[in-house]
Amino acid sequence: MAAILGKLFRRKRVDVIIAEGETLGYRKSLTWIDLTMLGLGGIIGAGIFALTGSAARNYAGPGIIISFVIAGIVSAFAAFTYSELSALIPISGSAYTFTYATLGELLAWIIGWDLILEYLVSAAAVAVAWSTYFEAFFVDTFGIGFNVGPTTVCGGNDITDGTTNCFYKGFRFEVSQPPIVWDEPSGSIIRNCKCLDGSDPCLDSNPTRACGVLCLPGMALCIALTVLLVVGMKESARFNNFIVCLKIVVILMFIFAGIKWINPDNYKPFIPDPIGQQYGSQGIFRGAQVVFFAYIGFDAVSTVAQEASNPQRDMPIGICLSLLISTGLYICVCAVMVGLMKYTEIPSNAPISAVIGVTGLKWMQSIVDIGAICGLGSVTLVSLMGQPRIFNAMARDGLLPAFFAKMHPKFHTPIVTTIITGVLATIAAGLLPVDILANLTSIGTLLAFFLVSGGVLILRYTDHNRYRPFRVGGQGMAGTIIGPIVALLGCVTSMGLIVLSGNRETAIRVGVWLAIGFVVYFGYAFWHSNLAKHPDWYLDNSKHPELQLAAHTATSVVRGENKEMGGADQMPPMVGH
Ligand code: ALA
Repeated sequence: MAAILGKLFRRKRVDVIIAEGETLGYRKSLTWIDLTMLGLGGIIGAGIFALTGSAARNYAGPGIIISFVIAGIVSAFAAFTYSELSALIPISGSAYTFTYATLGELLAWIIGWDLILEYLVSAAAVAVAWSTYFEAFFVDTFGIGFNVGPTTVCGGNDITDGTTNCFYKGFRFEVSQPPIVWDEPSGSIIRNCKCLDGSDPCLDSNPTRACGVLCLPGMALCIALTVLLVVGMKESARFNNFIVCLKIVVILMFIFAGIKWINPDNYKPFIPDPIGQQYGSQGIFRGAQVVFFAYIGFDAVSTVAQEASNPQRDMPIGICLSLLISTGLYICVCAVMVGLMKYTEIPSNAPISAVIGVTGLKWMQSIVDIGAICGLGSVTLVSLMGQPRIFNAMARDGLLPAFFAKMHPKFHTPIVTTIITGVLATIAAGLLPVDILANLTSIGTLLAFFLVSGGVLILRYTDHNRYRPFRVGGQGMAGTIIGPIVALLGCVTSMGLIVLSGNRETAIRVGVWLAIGFVVYFGYAFWHSNLAKHPDWYLDNSKHPELQLAAHTATSVVRGENKEMGGADQMPPMVGH
């Protein structure tokens, strides 16, 4: 029994991880500005542009502002712990790698498996949100919507089938909408239908009823980005910086254009009385759990640690600064949004664009749409790019088949994992509603934050002498006391947000996902792990083939030389992606 437990919690030594990282030959060129911009590129997206509407309407009312503050505080604890670990272990693989070094293989596997929810599922969620803005742009600018099918009118002279029956009833399709949607009041999944004449409830007999079939624009976005990632499209740091600046300018324009149209009555009641799981204090926490999605992405900074020119100093700056800027923007956007429109009327689709509509500034709606289209596109790209890196790190450790680490011989991109990620994200974006996808992502990420904070706490005791370039609370006595407190608060608040939000359905879905992960771990990873097959590599660096190769060549392995094997050593640098 003890032997099995020992195997489940076998750890990679921090110095081996760092030494392995040195062999990978990444180009170290990212500055703190690039890292901050990358953080903002991955953070500001569907959370603020899409989810705020349904979070305010369904859960928190104007109290959504408090929900954002709560989610920001939880993220801040995690940002500090990510900063400490990514400065200490500046290796791509993010939370997966940190956990392998601190809590052992089983938990690292769980985190790696769980990060699939964070990256792959969030790419799908953001693609669906992107689709709503893509359509909103066509509607706001050209008056064209994405519903197709025969026009049917019951009665009168416009009967298309020559009879008085609504023969074509239900044949209109929304080609930018998934077929199902989550219905909060009934707590169930229902068909995603709406009446184009605005009737609510939208009865089956209404001839203008149109139902979602597939979210085609979201699918097209995932396919296009996957193809670009496979052929090695490198989103240059400059391009990313441009998109981020555009997003921020649009958000600032929204805030300043909207502020003078705020109707103070819309803030009342600030926290609506509870109705079941909606509103009241639980609604605030549920709202916080939903909008927590908006903060996800600063941790993506830690996946590029190996490309930072001065990771010890710049990773903490990039992580914390991007989070701070986003938090400020989010709180202002929410305050304007619920001030412009009564929370009960804010739509789920493209809410920021819809609320700015009350100002009558048509051009502003189109600008918001364009800002969201660019911004959400970049978040999708960063997510689709992060996932193959995690898979790749896991395959390098033997937890996934070596096939997963295969690189394209010409483009030097992780072709297998990029295509697998792209196909799965495309299917999810086509079929599932944004709130289900986003909730899965949020809980998955909260779990990752919980484990990373726990990892910092444990490493403070098990490896307390190791020099930490960034130490939460500082290098002195204060850091010795404050660091563990912050890490503990990170654990408690992440788990607290999962529990307090009372989101049973999503917790069950995540549970099922993790159960599948356990089957894969015990069916494959446990037996094929490098730590299982080659324990001597990790006890004695001189037995480690890659470290030996590196020592032999005296310099780091140059990416692309070893064309057969593939692996992260041939991954393209994130700069520039
Ligand atoms: N934080 C990212 C977004 O809101 C995932 O789209």
